Amino acid sequence: MRFYLIGMPASGKSTLGLELSKRLGYEFIDMDHYIEKEAFMFVDEIFEAYGEKFFRDLETNTLKELMKLDNVVIATGGGIVLNKANKRLMDGKVIYLDVSILDLNKRVEESSIVRPVLESKPINALYLERKELYEYFADITVYNSDMNEAIESILKSL
Ligand code: S3P
Repeated sequence: MRFYLIGMPASGKSTLGLELSKRLGYEFIDMDHYIEKEAFMFVDEIFEAYGEKFFRDLETNTLKELMKLDNVVIATGGGIVLNKANKRLMDGKVIYLDVSILDLNKRVEESSIVRPVLESKPINALYLERKELYEYFADITVYNSDMNEAIESILKSL
């Protein structure tokens, strides 16, 4: 089985994903880190040097690669839902981690990760723009205010 975590930047996909993978005894893959290792560049450097479209294509190619794996929890980048064709490359259980706008703002402020998409748009606007897309991709939606509670609801839904 493959689990795909989707949701806004700073919604906790990587932190929860790692923990979920440990509970299941599965491998964990963070797509941004996977792409960075392959490209020998940080995500923000890829945006800067080659543009967003190039990065989105790398994401799609990575999804194709990851379909070869089994027993894995995959934390996707927040923009994976921007290409609707990615949906059929996410063959497994797709979990949308929803977080309140208030919590997202707090988490982004506390985070040291450089997120190019947030340089041109406030996170509130991005949330409203993307919410429907996340719901379209998701098999289940889990509210991630408390990570352990969110993991319990994921495990219960299996
Ligand atoms: C992006 C989110 C980032 C990263 C890239 C684009 C987005 O990942 O993939 O900067 O468009 O929302 P996180 O969701 O892990 O921050």
